Amino acid sequence: MRLRRLYVGLVVCSLTAVVHAQSTRPFPISDNDFYSTPSGAEVALGRALFFDKIISGNGNISCATCHHPLAGTGDGLSLSIGEGGKGLGLARDTGSGVDAVQGRIPRHTPHVFNLAAKEFSVMFHDGRLSVDDLEASGFNSPAGDQLPLGLDSVLAAQAMFPVTSSTEMAGQAGENPVANAAFEGRLAGENGVWDLLAQRLRAIPEYVVMFRDAYPEQISTADDIQFKDAANAIASFEGAAGRADNSRFDQFLRGDSQALSGSEMKGMKLFYDKANCSSCHSGKFQTDHGFHAIAMPQIGPGKGHNSEGYDDGRDDFGREAVTGDADDRFRFLTPSLRNVALTAPYGHAGAFDTLEAVVRHHLNPEESLLGYDGSQVRLPSRADLDGQDFVVMNDYWRVSQIGHRNELAPVFINEKDFGHLMSFLHALTDNGFLDDRRNMPSSVPSGLTMAD
Ligand code: HEC
Ligand code: HEC
Repeated sequence: MRLRRLYVGLVVCSLTAVVHAQSTRPFPISDNDFYSTPSGAEVALGRALFFDKIISGNGNISCATCHHPLAGTGDGLSLSIGEGGKGLGLARDTGSGVDAVQGRIPRHTPHVFNLAAKEFSVMFHDGRLSVDDLEASGFNSPAGDQLPLGLDSVLAAQAMFPVTSSTEMAGQAGENPVANAAFEGRLAGENGVWDLLAQRLRAIPEYVVMFRDAYPEQISTADDIQFKDAANAIASFEGAAGRADNSRFDQFLRGDSQALSGSEMKGMKLFYDKANCSSCHSGKFQTDHGFHAIAMPQIGPGKGHNSEGYDDGRDDFGREAVTGDADDRFRFLTPSLRNVALTAPYGHAGAFDTLEAVVRHHLNPEESLLGYDGSQVRLPSRADLDGQDFVVMNDYWRVSQIGHRNELAPVFINEKDFGHLMSFLHALTDNGFLDDRRNMPSSVPSGLTMAD
């Protein structure tokens, strides 16, 4: 009880740091907002690679396993299950025997909608990959100087990374040469992760033809194929398949005054005014591309960070781990909200199961954090992993650390207005994505299964 009183006192102080800036309704999204349209051959190659498990160390997971078109380009889970798991979406499990996953991925899989828009220059919940003209590659990233030249965009640069992660796609040291290289930090160079994967692609005749068709000026023989070409193609596919700018809200912005219902209009007004959502969810894509601490519950294995006095690595300091600035603790990237009704669960650790729950959290973040109901998480159960999931949330001190950093002021709106706000968020859905089978190939050049 004493702790709680102390905590409430600190909460009041923290509210002085609240964000107040207001922004207005955006201009409509147009072609000019995106990188130039890739060729059909490039998109076809990228689609094949996105769904092909051949670019994972053990040949058992593709990008699409976690970013599936039928799960809002996510995986439907709070925290994703990497290589070793079996099944897709909510049916995914943690695998079995020696191949079972080593642990949960510490963060929620974000959607990949609209990421080929030029204004997206920062990737990942903590922004550890960003456009940076001072770097030779053009990007600041955990790979440093190893990142090759010739990546078309930050989205292409991003596609270089999942294949280097032991838990996501590479596998554990000892399991395959890609995993060994990843474990040793050899990403670039001969027999590094990217070269080993390029070698696999060079050996599949159908891919050689597809690479040649996609990049006729650079690639004439199999030997010319580099993994950066694969990454560029994957980004082209993500961009072409993920463009989601035909929601009722978009239609309204383009001048169709009838596109939104009365309730959605009221919700839009709340979003851009009284509820102050647009102070962070601003601009055409409803993100300021900035980082904010909004007291999101922390579940799962954590990102290896430790609040003072702890050494189990269960915390996730978010942006601080990239900038080294303690003021950035618990700040995470503001997500874009197009198609948000399709992308549950929500937050960097997927702590909220429903759109309603994550919006209610925003209305009073610290109270919501303290009252967090862990039963809503969507995680395939496994005894040893389950034990890690709520270590932070079961520790009042650690929870209070998250609460103290909150920058988001409570918003007081009545239930009727809350309903309008929810209606507006549903009006951000581009109906073309309700059933996105059009973006799925029927088979992939390696011949590997796409079924799980
Ligand atoms: C095991 C599941 C998994 C696999 C496989 C996977 N991803 Fe992801 N992806 C994630 C998670 C989790 C994150 C967030 C990581 C973070 O922010 O720390 C992420 C982040 C991203 C982002 C950044 C989105 C943003 O808004 O910042 C993109 C783009 C992306 N992945 C594309 C890909 C591509 C392309 C592949 C295949 C080469 C791939 N992913 C494979 C789980 C996965
Ligand atoms: C102070 C900045 C800020 C304000 C104001 C704000 N948000 Fe957020 N919002 C964020 C951040 C940051 C996240 C992601 C936090 C995380 O991943 O831990 C987020 C996440 C979300 C999500 C979950 C999306 C996803 O993909 O996980 C929704 C929905 C959302 N906000 C809606 C709203 C609404 C509605 C309002 C107004 C009531 C609002 N936000 C006000 C910063 C803000």
